[in-house]
Amino acid sequence: MRNDSVLIFRKFEWSDLDAISGIENRSFEVGPYSGEEIIDMFANPLAFNYVAVDGDKIAGYVVAIPLDNSSADVESIAVDPSYQGSGVGSKLLAYIEEEMKARGFSLSVLEVREKNHEGLKFYEKNGYKVLEKLNNYYSEHFRESRHAVRMTKILK
Ligand SMILES: CC(C)(COP(=O)(O)OP(=O)(O)OC[C@H]1O[C@@H](n2cnc3c(N)ncnc32)[C@H](O)[C@@H]1OP(=O)(O)O)[C@@H](O)C(=O)NCCC(=O)NCCS
Repeated sequence: MRNDSVLIFRKFEWSDLDAISGIENRSFEVGPYSGEEIIDMFANPLAFNYVAVDGDKIAGYVVAIPLDNSSADVESIAVDPSYQGSGVGSKLLAYIEEEMKARGFSLSVLEVREKNHEGLKFYEKNGYKVLEKLNNYYSEHFRESRHAVRMTKILK
C-alpha cells in the first residue's frame, strides 16, 4: 500500500465482484470462495458488508450474516496480499462490528482454520477469544488439518 493512500470504506457494489474474486483467490491458499459462492454471499438479503477501496482498487472486504437475534457471524474477510499487514483488515473488522451493534447484535462469531496461525493472531489481536474447536469443519486440508476453531467477541 502506498503511504499516501486514503482508504474509503463503503458498501459492496456489483461492479466490485471481479476484484473481490481476485482477492479471494490471491489471499486463500486453500478453499477460496468460488465466483458463485461470492455472488450468493452478497445477494443474501440478510447479509451486510464493507469494502475497503483505494482509488480504483479494492483492498479488501468483509461480509457478516446474522445467526440469531443477538449474534452475527463474520462469514468472510480478506485483504489483498499487497495491502496485508497495514491495518486494512482490522479496520474492516471494526466497521462490520459497528454495523453489527447498530443492527442490535451483541456477539460477533467467526470460524477460522486451526492452522491459520496468521488469521488466529489477527482475530486475537482484535479481541476475539476461542470458544470451541470444530473437528473436520472444512472439506479441504490446509497445513494438514481440516479443523477449525470458533471464536467470539462481545460487542460493547
Ligand atoms: C487475516 C487478514 C484479513 C488480516 O488483514 P490485515 O490487513 O493483513 O491485518 P492487519 O494489518 O489489520 O493486522 C492486525 C494484526 O493481525 C496480526 N496479523 C495480521 N497478519 C498477520 C500475519 N500474516 N502473520 C501474523 N500476524 C498477523 C498481527 O498481530 C497484526 O498486528 P501488528 O501489525 O501490530 O503485528 C489478511 O491477512 C488476509 O486476508 N489473510 C488471508 C485470508 C484470511 O486468512 N482471512 C481470515 C481468516 S478466514
